[in-house]
Amino acid sequence: MTDLALEPKPTPLALLLLGRNADPDSEKGVECPGSLPPASDPDLVQRAAAAKARLGDRVFILGHHYQRNEVIEFADVTGDSFKLAQQAAAHPEAEYIVFCGVHFMAESADILTSDSQQVVLPDMAAGCSMADMAEISQVEECWRVLQEAGVAEVTVPVTYMNSTAAIKAFTGRNGGSVCTSSNAKASLEWAFAKGEKVLFLPDQHLGRNTAVLELGLSLDDCVIYNPRLPGGGLTTDQLRAAKMILWRGHCSVHARFTAKSIQDVREQVPGVQVIVHPECTYEVVSAADAIGSTEVIISTITNAEPGSTWAIGTELNLVQRLAQDHPDKQIVFLEKSVCFCATMNRIDLPHLVWALESLADGNLVNQITVDPDTAHWARVALDRMLALPGPTHRAD
Ligand code: 13P
Ligand code: SF4
Repeated sequence: MTDLALEPKPTPLALLLLGRNADPDSEKGVECPGSLPPASDPDLVQRAAAAKARLGDRVFILGHHYQRNEVIEFADVTGDSFKLAQQAAAHPEAEYIVFCGVHFMAESADILTSDSQQVVLPDMAAGCSMADMAEISQVEECWRVLQEAGVAEVTVPVTYMNSTAAIKAFTGRNGGSVCTSSNAKASLEWAFAKGEKVLFLPDQHLGRNTAVLELGLSLDDCVIYNPRLPGGGLTTDQLRAAKMILWRGHCSVHARFTAKSIQDVREQVPGVQVIVHPECTYEVVSAADAIGSTEVIISTITNAEPGSTWAIGTELNLVQRLAQDHPDKQIVFLEKSVCFCATMNRIDLPHLVWALESLADGNLVNQITVDPDTAHWARVALDRMLALPGPTHRAD
């Protein structure tokens, strides 16, 4: 018999009760039409394999490196944001692209695939807090501020892949390009060949790290535009003097790594080499031995000497997988207080099974679509990126 007084009750603040079965609907995040299999279903692996086999060549599954192992197991290809964008465009035979990653990646896949292909995101709650930090009306307001300061015509917008399709379209319309963490240097070089200044959105850290550490600009060449302040919190003189206008956005995972943790790990683990993602702060990146996108971090560890020791500053799913896959190297996670990316982790095996079984039964679910005008201009910005020389990285 259950004690009713101890039963968790549904609450308008259900998020506070996540994991206690108080409000199963909220815990799912976003409603899945039909039934989402419980995580405890022992047949999930077999169900995913069977649904994938039923779909055959009609489905192509892309998996970002930050996805859970249980999901990565079913990916036809894994990659960083750049590689996944290329791969989405490279499979015109697949009717369905199931994107195991986050919303902005699935939007880009929809833009880069043909009209006859459908892109599916297994859980609509898989967003990105960084992408949400730049809203299109704020970016348009920022451009007006630059116009009033008389600098818009010499400014080239460059947006990180981690942004909404609307921001990519704004960038395309205004002569700019998309970049990813693996080609940010080439994108900035391209932009500075076209104009005198860059408006970099939405990750201030990737923008600053690339401008200062890769292009040799100074920290004083960079200013931060705060969309919550009138005029971005900058004077006209500051805008005129700046070379890099950095949007005040960041990754809620990578911004938590600290230079102190690098100092600590160097003291505790003799001979350790530290590699971090360029979404980390300037202080962290400057204190590390190497920096790179997820793809670069993987290749650096794969090619490292057996017996070498590494502290890695990026999302935990990837670091755990690297530690499992490279038992001949000692791999530690750089910062104890950093967790998984909550939104990447929304895609789990139950959602993948639900999406694949729905598609195999003829039900198109969780389709990601971008309206034609936005898609056109976003594609202009994406194509400018894809035309740049291949990804470049610093691993010194
Ligand atoms: P990359 O895979 O391009 O390094 O991106 C990291 C990231 O934060 C994706 O959300
Ligand atoms: Fe967004 Fe950071 Fe998560 Fe990547 S790791 S999806 S940038 S919050």
